[in-house]
Amino acid sequence: MFRGLAHSALALVIALLFCNFSAIAAPDGKALFMSNCASCHNPLKDATGPALQGADQRNTKEWIYTWVHNPAAVIAGGDKHANELKAKFGAMMTSFPQLSHDEIDAILKYVDDYKAPVAAEPAAGGAAAGQGQEDNGWVYSIITIALLVLVLILWRANNALRRIANEKSGIPNEKPIPIYRSKLVIAIVSIIAFIMAGYWMVNGAVNMGRQQNYQPLQPIFYSHKVHVGINQINCLYCHAGAEKSRQAMIPSSNICMNCHKQINEYTGEKDHPLMTAEGVHIDGTKQIQELYRYAGWDPAKKDYNRDATGNILATPIKWIKIHNLPDHVYFNHSQHVKVGQVQCQRCHGPIQDMDEVYQFAPLSMGWCINCHRQTEVQFGDNGYYKIFEKYHQEIKDGTRKGVTVEEAGGTECQRCHY
Ligand code: HEC
Ligand code: HEC
Ligand code: HEC
Ligand code: HEC
Ligand code: HEC
Ligand code: HEC
Repeated sequence: MFRGLAHSALALVIALLFCNFSAIAAPDGKALFMSNCASCHNPLKDATGPALQGADQRNTKEWIYTWVHNPAAVIAGGDKHANELKAKFGAMMTSFPQLSHDEIDAILKYVDDYKAPVAAEPAAGGAAAGQGQEDNGWVYSIITIALLVLVLILWRANNALRRIANEKSGIPNEKPIPIYRSKLVIAIVSIIAFIMAGYWMVNGAVNMGRQQNYQPLQPIFYSHKVHVGINQINCLYCHAGAEKSRQAMIPSSNICMNCHKQINEYTGEKDHPLMTAEGVHIDGTKQIQELYRYAGWDPAKKDYNRDATGNILATPIKWIKIHNLPDHVYFNHSQHVKVGQVQCQRCHGPIQDMDEVYQFAPLSMGWCINCHRQTEVQFGDNGYYKIFEKYHQEIKDGTRKGVTVEEAGGTECQRCHY
């Protein structure tokens, strides 16, 4: 009878292990939302598109599936709600024919459960939501261990009972085996250790070198929110390389000084006080003085400090690099920004709202490839794609709407790997 119990407890342990794995395989609503919808939607606030929280109460699920798969068709079909939204927001939503109903459900669940981050801190929100999942994993692990201990106890109790029964009926008992030498225990422990080690190793290897949400404190507290969000400075003013070359480039201090020879204090304190991710208050005016120190600018003299030969006494600002691809990967900004017309935000997230930049995308191989599967190249009038005569013909014939990056060869290993 005890043996039976021990067996069912063991079965339960194994079942739980599997639950644990399948929980990880379910569609990740947050990741899907971030990579597909966040460039236009915020869960709580209207942006390019409407706030998405509660969208599944405003509309039926079926409506949402059809809409997400092909918004243009819904609008063309004369749907009243869709046309009202279109009139209000103007922009046209991208279609996502590749998203399954499960994936759309996961996105809706994510936006419905979404709560505003406590200190209006975008990074904190992201990190906290990410942690929820891991915590779950720990709960499973603890239950698993607890049940294992239970199996052991039951198994020992079972042995002890058998011993007593044997003694009663005069059958000689074998010498008790110490627990660590019992074959059953060794087998169970090694199977479980094997599964766990394999799981953690694969996970660890895949994530090694990745640093999503990485947000270091920079030598100068330079805020993209202040410059891009509030003062509407174009990304390319500082990252001109993004359109022309492989690298987007970080501007040198003389680009900053184009404006900061005049702008020597931060007057936005009342409307937008500056805070680090840890909640430490930052004095923006002091930070501009830091910039002067690096740039070698003397605000009293209104001129640069120079050495005897007239060279400006500037020291380079050692910005900490946030995004890092491994050396074996080839990535080119201008191919994406200029040729592909991909918006910075699709890969870097809402930079215009960040006081401190954090790494928004995982930069994993799966991330690159997923987007290449889903996104169409700028095919029409692009000399680069002249060679694809078949596709051009099909577009002319009306049998094809567009060509994804994948169809143009963008998932072939050698395009991204040296
Ligand atoms: C390119 C910008 C853009 C992207 C990307 C985008 N949307 Fe939209 N979405 C809009 C706009 C704009 C509207 C309002 C209707 C219109 O103007 O076409 C809208 C409307 C909606 C609505 C209707 C909301 C309501 O209040 O009834 C839903 C639901 C929706 N989007 C879901 C999604 C989902 C899910 C994703 C990601 C898979 C997504 N959208 C990605 C721009 C976008
Ligand atoms: C006034 C100059 C300026 C403008 C405008 C600007 N940036 Fe930056 N950007 C910087 C500086 C300086 C850094 C380095 C410090 C930091 O990481 O915050 C930086 C860092 C970054 C990084 C992180 C780089 C890394 O280390 O991996 C990204 C991504 C980025 N900017 C994207 C953008 C985007 C997208 C826009 C437009 C929405 C933009 N920037 C507008 C000056 C600017
Ligand atoms: C195109 C003009 C322009 C350029 C270029 C520019 N800034 Fe600014 N900067 C501004 C404006 C405008 C403000 C806000 C002033 C205010 O609100 O009183 C500002 C504010 C600041 C502040 C205080 C707020 C904060 O973000 O902490 C710092 C520090 C600063 N800039 C550093 C830099 C650095 C470093 C660079 C170069 C990478 C740079 N700026 C380039 C226009 C510029
Ligand atoms: C947000 C979507 C998106 C993401 C993410 C993305 N790409 Fe791309 N990529 C594109 C588009 C769109 C094109 C096609 C541009 C064009 O030619 O019209 C492209 C083209 C390319 C090409 C040229 C392919 C060819 O046909 O020669 C390379 C190489 C490339 N991407 C590498 C990468 C790498 C490496 C990553 C990940 C670090 C990445 N991409 C992430 C959208 C994306
Ligand atoms: C298709 C995705 C994608 C798009 C679109 C994109 N970036 Fe990047 N960005 C990356 C990746 C990946 C890296 C890391 C590159 C590396 O480590 O070699 C990066 C790095 C950067 C850096 C760090 C410096 C550098 O060049 O490595 C800056 C700054 C930056 N991006 C700014 C921008 C700006 C500004 C835009 C829009 C004009 C933009 N990015 C558009 C994916 C993208
Ligand atoms: C669209 C770009 C792209 C294509 C196509 C691509 N890779 Fe990758 N690959 C990457 C990126 C980015 C990384 C870095 C991932 C990381 O750091 O997590 C990577 C990493 C790797 C790694 C190192 C292991 C790892 O996960 O970090 C191997 C091995 C690899 N790729 C093999 C391949 C093979 C084989 C193919 C062809 C079937 C291929 N890649 C096609 C972008 C690409």
